[in-house]
Amino acid sequence: MPRSEKIWLTLSFGIIMGFMLIVGYQAFALELGPPSHKETIDPQKVDETAPFDNPGVFQTGDNEYEVVMVLQAFSYTPHEIEVPAGAKVTFTLTTKDVIHGFQIARTNVNAMVVPGHIQKITQTFKEPGEYLVLCNEYCGIGHQIMGTTITVK
Ligand code: CUA
Repeated sequence: MPRSEKIWLTLSFGIIMGFMLIVGYQAFALELGPPSHKETIDPQKVDETAPFDNPGVFQTGDNEYEVVMVLQAFSYTPHEIEVPAGAKVTFTLTTKDVIHGFQIARTNVNAMVVPGHIQKITQTFKEPGEYLVLCNEYCGIGHQIMGTTITVK
């Protein structure tokens, strides 16, 4: 085998090992992973399980809110959401049936909501306005109509 080929092989193998070590270190030593895997729920008992037995917008602190939301084909409950501008809003989400998406247009919020899991995502809306929420996981025949809005005042 020519010397140049040996160098290439060693280099590419070394780079792959390096990447695997970094990913492994992040996953196991730093415990970086999807946060939704920390809390689970029986997807057939969402209506009876707190906090999802009472979906809505709740003030949890001085300038903090929690939105408890249930997703199902093809709607978001509650449908009307209003929060003040500048408040820290934590969305606590779950789904009763299949995988749905929770994407808020013009923000970095883009979550996958998986049956059996509780998804939490926090956002501060600086600008008042109407924010469009869209499902971006194909969930059935009415997927394209699955959406809602968040009013920030
Ligand atoms: Cu829900 Cu697509």
